[in-house]
Amino acid sequence: MLFYHRVNMARRKQDKAPHTQPLARTADKYDLYQRSVQNPSHETPFFRRVYRDAFSSDPKILREDFCGTFAVCCEWVKGHKDRVAIGVDLDPEPLEWGMAHNLSRIRPSARPRITLMRENVLKVAGPKADIVAAQNFSFWIFKTRPEVVRYFKAMHRNLAKRGVVILDMMGGGDCIMEDHTDRRPISEEPIVEGNPRRFTYLWEQARYDPISHSASFYIHFQFRDKSEMKRAFEYHWRFWTIPEVREMLDEAGFAESHVYWEGTNKEGEGNDVYRRRISAPSDKVWIAYVVGVKK
Ligand SMILES: C[S@@+](CC[C@H](N)C(=O)[O-])C[C@H]1O[C@@H](n2cnc3c(N)ncnc32)[C@H](O)[C@@H]1O
Repeated sequence: MLFYHRVNMARRKQDKAPHTQPLARTADKYDLYQRSVQNPSHETPFFRRVYRDAFSSDPKILREDFCGTFAVCCEWVKGHKDRVAIGVDLDPEPLEWGMAHNLSRIRPSARPRITLMRENVLKVAGPKADIVAAQNFSFWIFKTRPEVVRYFKAMHRNLAKRGVVILDMMGGGDCIMEDHTDRRPISEEPIVEGNPRRFTYLWEQARYDPISHSASFYIHFQFRDKSEMKRAFEYHWRFWTIPEVREMLDEAGFAESHVYWEGTNKEGEGNDVYRRRISAPSDKVWIAYVVGVKK
């Protein structure tokens, strides 16, 4: 009890420490991003389950496309001593951040099992993987059908003889409301020492064009000193739909595709709530996974 009291006092002190500069100027945006939108400890067991559903065996090699700070690669290799991960991203900045703050947090013996490739996901050729995952809607950067099919063919090529690709998708009427911002308070231990523990994550849906399905989204962060990190991240995407993605997986050579839709368990949360469905209710906002199977 006393221990927790001390920890809380220390946290309060940390949050009240005088800052000469606005927090928005000093805060580390990758730390804020990771704590707001990523949940690797839920994703990696889900990836394993998807692979087991397809092949009734355990996957070993994960490739994380658009890996950014490669938090999922780090979580993957932590899970088992035989696991290997490959992270691919074009931008050296998040890769370097991941080396300083994610890679350094895992056991030294697990670190060599991660390979990072600063490359274009369309062109990269690496070790054949059991799973290729592209998370947080990253492939929506490809705005035309030929570009997406080219990417899916690259994913197919980079899979072992038997493998799965896992793509997350979002949708529902509320996701395409223009000039709409969702806010979520975040409160948990920072990854980077000195970064604020509490802040507000804002997801702005700025623009959605019903003709082209192009859409613009921004992530902002607000702090207790009322300062705001505006447009810390921005995305200009094609808003793809599940049937389009499945058709393109088919065109790229995948033998099957499946949709894992969010359900509920007793606690109403957790990765185990995503289950294969062939039809779903028209929720106002939904997140789902599309899985392509190579056989
Ligand atoms: C939305 S972030 C995703 C970060 C992380 N995977 C996640 O789930 O939150 C998109 C990342 O894709 C990278 N990226 C964009 N186009 C790329 C390409 N053609 N090849 C490789 N990486 C790319 C960007 O540098 C950025 O780090």
